[in-house]
Amino acid sequence: MSVAIAAQPAPSVGAVSFLDRPARLLIGGEWVQSESGRTISVVDPATGAIVASVADADRTDVDRAVAAAREAFEQGPWPRMLPAERQALIWRLGDLIEQHADELCELESIDNGKTKFMASVVDIPATREYLRYMAGWATKIEGSTFDISVGAPPGSRFETSTRRHPVGVVAQIIPWNFPLLMAAWKLGPALAAGCTCVLKPAEQTPLTALRLGELVMEAGFPPGVVNVLTGYGETAGAALVSHPGVDKVAFTGSGEVGKIINKSATNTLKRVSLELGGKSPVIVLPDADVETVIGGAAQAIFFNAGQVCAAGSRLYAHKKIYDRVVEGVSAAADAIRLGPGLDPETEMGPLVSREQQDRVMGYVDSGREEGAELVTGGESLEHPGCFVKPTVLANVNANMRVVQEEIFGPVLVAQPFDDIDEVAALANATPYGLSASIWSNDLRAVHRLVPKVKAGTVWVNCHSFVDANMPFGGFKQSGFGREHGRTGIEMYTELQSVCMLV
Ligand code: NAI
Ligand code: MG
Repeated sequence: MSVAIAAQPAPSVGAVSFLDRPARLLIGGEWVQSESGRTISVVDPATGAIVASVADADRTDVDRAVAAAREAFEQGPWPRMLPAERQALIWRLGDLIEQHADELCELESIDNGKTKFMASVVDIPATREYLRYMAGWATKIEGSTFDISVGAPPGSRFETSTRRHPVGVVAQIIPWNFPLLMAAWKLGPALAAGCTCVLKPAEQTPLTALRLGELVMEAGFPPGVVNVLTGYGETAGAALVSHPGVDKVAFTGSGEVGKIINKSATNTLKRVSLELGGKSPVIVLPDADVETVIGGAAQAIFFNAGQVCAAGSRLYAHKKIYDRVVEGVSAAADAIRLGPGLDPETEMGPLVSREQQDRVMGYVDSGREEGAELVTGGESLEHPGCFVKPTVLANVNANMRVVQEEIFGPVLVAQPFDDIDEVAALANATPYGLSASIWSNDLRAVHRLVPKVKAGTVWVNCHSFVDANMPFGGFKQSGFGREHGRTGIEMYTELQSVCMLV
């Protein structure tokens, strides 16, 4: 269908000068060409135009980057620095994010499709704050002391304690939905713990990771502490994950690739943490205020065009209010103004790529074929950009693909329910378990429901709120490990017990 889409405004001079940089990798503190010289085109998904090209790293480049990270870990100053010095450098990186916020917002918008406005209120400030939060952890990593009961030789006494060591060289593979923020979620705790990193951004959105690499060097990190490789998952990503010189892999992305990574990492028993998306239920109990729920549920699915691992993509509303909630969310969907990310009038940008647009439309079609009722949306625009209209599919059932599988686009599926046990069973009836939200002011009902929901985060009267201090990760096939907070730091350390006969 055709809807008028405004023209993409021209980026600023600063952003353009970055886009024009030659294709380079950050290895051992130097900006170098890929061994093959091959490049990957970067496309603005609002226009379909190629805006930059980046290096296409392969196995040889991975070898170089891992060797640089290894040298920085074994010989360089980083793990041996005073914790306060590591803290200061990570904090300084946060400051540089702040100083270059406007340029980073533009690059994120051009690369991912999200609005510059959204990048300016979510992605970039959250990145800055995440780095600052993790900077503070560098000086707070601790072990414990405890007594043991070994009784031999008779009369002997022991001093026993634990200490934490950085896990070593970490490979960090991130997705395209929040490119810079995902880089911070990975680098922040690893650096605080004293690890050295090889970061591979998604091939669709490499720009801000490269700009971050420049800021890492400007901040004064020692060479080889942060290496940035742009490249494809099947080549650079796979080589990184299987590399014997890597001690830990941290991954955010699809379940399919998470499983491949977990298998590949097994050969050298690398530590692995996986954040693999979800199919998060939004559960609306009968007492909920309908207007509040409509705004909250629309936000839960349409934020970032639904390209959010924790997106509230399944709506379960009590049958008493189901019709009003579905009608309200559909009206909210209809009102969203689509457009290019740099246009301040735009409320929702395009999806990240043509591939993602096709994937999302494939799901919409499958839902209709399986008998879901299309309430609104359900169309992509005839436009060189990758726009999909916000979509609501009603009266779905638990067997449909649109209910079981992560769509990762602006598509909500809705189903009524009758009682709490029924909705708990529905909420749990997918392979995923990343998050859920419950909308109600009935304290007893909420407290009874929360423990029944198999999800790493349960929000009550809100959805998708994350914080650097709140553990985040999945039950079931949404992955394992918890990012953020103390647990996020611990994932980048090895625990050593010290047992001294005194
Ligand atoms: P993906 O899982 O293929 O890509 C994520 C990252 O993994 C990228 O950096 C990619 O280069 C890398 N990668 C791909 N194959 C690899 C391999 N064999 N070894 C190592 N690294 C590899 O996700 P994709 O294809 O971009 O999106 C497909 C679906 O995945 C989406 O529709 C969505 O459902 C889900 N997804 C979930 C995300 C989340 O936040 N949990 C983020 C992105 C995608
Ligand atoms: Mg893929």
